[in-house]
Amino acid sequence: MGWIYLALLCMFCAFSAAYRKEHHPVPTYFGRRHPDGTLVDRSAPEFDRDIKKPFVNQKWRNDASIKLSPTVATNGGEVAVIWNGVTDPQEKDFIAFYCPIYSNPSHYLDYFYVSSSSTWKEGSGNYSVVVYNMRSTCVFKYWRAGSSYSKFVAESEELSFDKGGPEAPLQGHISMTTKPSEMRVMWVSGEVTKPAVVKYGLDKELSMEEYEYIIHTYTADNMCQAPANSTGFTHPGYVYDVVLRNLKPNTQYYYSFGSETQMSDVLYFNTPLPSGDKTPYKMVIYGDMGVSPGLRAAETANLVLDDALKNDVKFVFHHGDISYARGYAYIWEHWFAMIQPYSTLIPYMVGVGNHEQDHTHGGERDPSGAPGEGSWHPSWFNGGTDSGGECGVPMFKRFHMPDNGNAIWWYSFDYGMAHYIMMSTEHDYSPGSRQYTWLENDLRNLDRTVTPWVMIAGHRAMYCSEAYESDYVVSVNMQRLFEDLLYKYKVDLAFWAHYHSYERTCKVYKGKCAEDGITHIVVGSAGKNLDVDKWYPEEWSVVHKTDYGYGRVTIANSSALLYEWIQNDKQEVMDHVWLTK
Ligand SMILES: [Fe+2]
Repeated sequence: MGWIYLALLCMFCAFSAAYRKEHHPVPTYFGRRHPDGTLVDRSAPEFDRDIKKPFVNQKWRNDASIKLSPTVATNGGEVAVIWNGVTDPQEKDFIAFYCPIYSNPSHYLDYFYVSSSSTWKEGSGNYSVVVYNMRSTCVFKYWRAGSSYSKFVAESEELSFDKGGPEAPLQGHISMTTKPSEMRVMWVSGEVTKPAVVKYGLDKELSMEEYEYIIHTYTADNMCQAPANSTGFTHPGYVYDVVLRNLKPNTQYYYSFGSETQMSDVLYFNTPLPSGDKTPYKMVIYGDMGVSPGLRAAETANLVLDDALKNDVKFVFHHGDISYARGYAYIWEHWFAMIQPYSTLIPYMVGVGNHEQDHTHGGERDPSGAPGEGSWHPSWFNGGTDSGGECGVPMFKRFHMPDNGNAIWWYSFDYGMAHYIMMSTEHDYSPGSRQYTWLENDLRNLDRTVTPWVMIAGHRAMYCSEAYESDYVVSVNMQRLFEDLLYKYKVDLAFWAHYHSYERTCKVYKGKCAEDGITHIVVGSAGKNLDVDKWYPEEWSVVHKTDYGYGRVTIANSSALLYEWIQNDKQEVMDHVWLTK
């Protein structure tokens, strides 16, 4: 059997070099689309190929003007750009968006052609865009497309943002520490003029205050490669990181975060169940989200918010491929605005995927402490420059997970009757490695009378029958390197993602269904473009679907656990399994 396995492995290796997964476009700041409805790709060379440079920043002779409605925008809200009085308009004339307002006119965040408006030939038009508070004022400029340069025509009034503008507390999210008596609150602001604070309490009076915080930020130089450290960089603002301590477990608290100048709305969260608490509850798990609208990422966000409000879902486990910023920093702003309604309500726990972590150079800047120039690259591993040069830096600065492993890369926590482990499949997991040693130690120290249920999540899959050769090779090597460890310590459920699809296995061990095996779930279906691959016939695959959706676990009691997969468009449970012991 061994030689067949090796022969197959080598065959797949040969395939893998030639077979790369389809590139998914990076949405532009405005999320512009081609006439056929597909997204314009910010990372493609044709993004601004037709924009002629240099920019001649001298006003063209006319009475053109640009008005904005409103001039004070909401984060993630629409602004109508209305222009008038343009003489002799050209089809390729364009309006560029500067945010912040840079003196270099070629430093725009996005642009649109004036021909996007049906009245452009009359020298006037109206086009609405969605804007995000990037902690500065912004401006739109109309440029005349010349044959070899772009000439300045008109500039809008300045656009600012409501609820504090640069001091607005943005991108709020909460996360668990290792203690049920604590909750971490994080948010982003520009420079604040008064002290940052979280006000909180058992009622909306918010009688307690926490002024102690850590502040995180990063520059282009902190990251490993382009575009993250070059054309894709915009300043992330300042990430505030506050831990509320001495809280009562399993208790609702009201809170508000920000600075004394501008606080968030009054929100609420529930502190975690203590380890071993027998109260039933639910949690949600998904990977590969991004920022796609419609029935995709935005629908996952809507449904999970609903689950958190009405269905007793206690936290989110998002195991990699988070925003798909891939070096284009504004995508992080879009993504956080999308999840904020529920990431401020229930803890949002994250792990890294290839699109946050993988890089090929600049290893000394990788904050995970991984050795070498690039990420982990055994010969059979197909990681490349998938993070767009971010090499884990934005993830590390924007999130703070329980401090009992290696920051966001690997950690664990208890919640009631279950123990949860997040691991990084982008780091060495072979026996003897730092991560393997930590994982073994974590599993060895479990008391199954306290947490009878044990679940692990990582990004790339240990079992997935999707016919994508180079990742299949990775899965076979994951089985080779640490399946035995999970089996030895009787892990109940292993969650993976990376494949943009859904799959559930039988209880499996070494490629065979086995009563004492582990149930594996691939749930990379939270929003990023679905895969198009076929499926290998594998005896361990119980169900697979290529559609958008997310997973939900119900810890019913110490001997029964329900797992469900909810399909977004039907808003129904399309697969489920009870695990009993
Ligand atoms: Fe991935």
